[in-house]
Amino acid sequence: MDKTNSQTVAKESGMRSETENALTVVWEGEEYRAEAEALAAHIGAPVSGTRGEGLMLLRNADGLSLVGYGMTYRGDFEGMLPRISGGRLFHEMLVHIAKTKEEHPTAVDATAGMGEDSFLLAAYGYEVTLFERDPVIAALLADALRRAERHPVLGPIAARMHLVEGDSVAALPALPEPPDLVYLDPMFPERKKSGLIGKKLQLIQKLERPCGEEDALFAAAMAAHPKKLVVKRPLKGPELAGAKPEYSIKGKAIRYDCFRVVK
Ligand SMILES: C[S@@+](CC[C@H](N)C(=O)[O-])C[C@H]1O[C@@H](n2cnc3c(N)ncnc32)[C@H](O)[C@@H]1O
Repeated sequence: MDKTNSQTVAKESGMRSETENALTVVWEGEEYRAEAEALAAHIGAPVSGTRGEGLMLLRNADGLSLVGYGMTYRGDFEGMLPRISGGRLFHEMLVHIAKTKEEHPTAVDATAGMGEDSFLLAAYGYEVTLFERDPVIAALLADALRRAERHPVLGPIAARMHLVEGDSVAALPALPEPPDLVYLDPMFPERKKSGLIGKKLQLIQKLERPCGEEDALFAAAMAAHPKKLVVKRPLKGPELAGAKPEYSIKGKAIRYDCFRVVK
């Protein structure tokens, strides 16, 4: 197959094209080899026992990291500890918005990314189902969750976070029960230039594809019939799918648009 054809196949099958983001899965330590090989087969990437020059997913004793462009990124919920300790969780805008009287509230994060927003919801007490369609991001998140599960404080929170690798547009209308909350934080182009994200996430962005299906995502979220739908937007960004929220809560750089779906 020539290069053009292989890129077409990669795009059609949801895999990354070779030139967009050549990614190699690398293992360091024979005990991680089988896992690296399985991951490489899953994402359709080459696998190696030696580091190379380009972007790589590195499996070693530290866990799974994305390495390249002079940066290393590994999901790490320990970094979230200051945000949930000493009563600070209740200062989080998202937690304020997601407040509920339900005893066992359920949420669906339909655009999980590295799960930081889901983590806040789970720390508050939500049982969260996280959908992430990008297999590389899903693998990094799964690894971060595995490590969090072994931590005395993070463990019970991570236990309330249930990762599903897949497309939430298909999954949301088919949920067995309507969740109390659906949360959407799709990628928006403005964010790339806004400096809203830390340097570490710049590496993750090399993998992300723009969300070109905002209308479908919004319609799928509504079709799940949650009590509340919350959408994260850039402060001055357009509404998702042009839908007027019932109310919005604004921070310095972002806002949350809220819809009460089932009253
Ligand atoms: C901006 S990031 C979310 C960041 C996340 N809120 C956090 O706290 O880490 C958006 C993510 O949604 C994922 N995504 C976009 N559309 C999706 C869909 N239809 N189903 C599942 N994941 C999707 C992208 O792959 C990307 O990882």
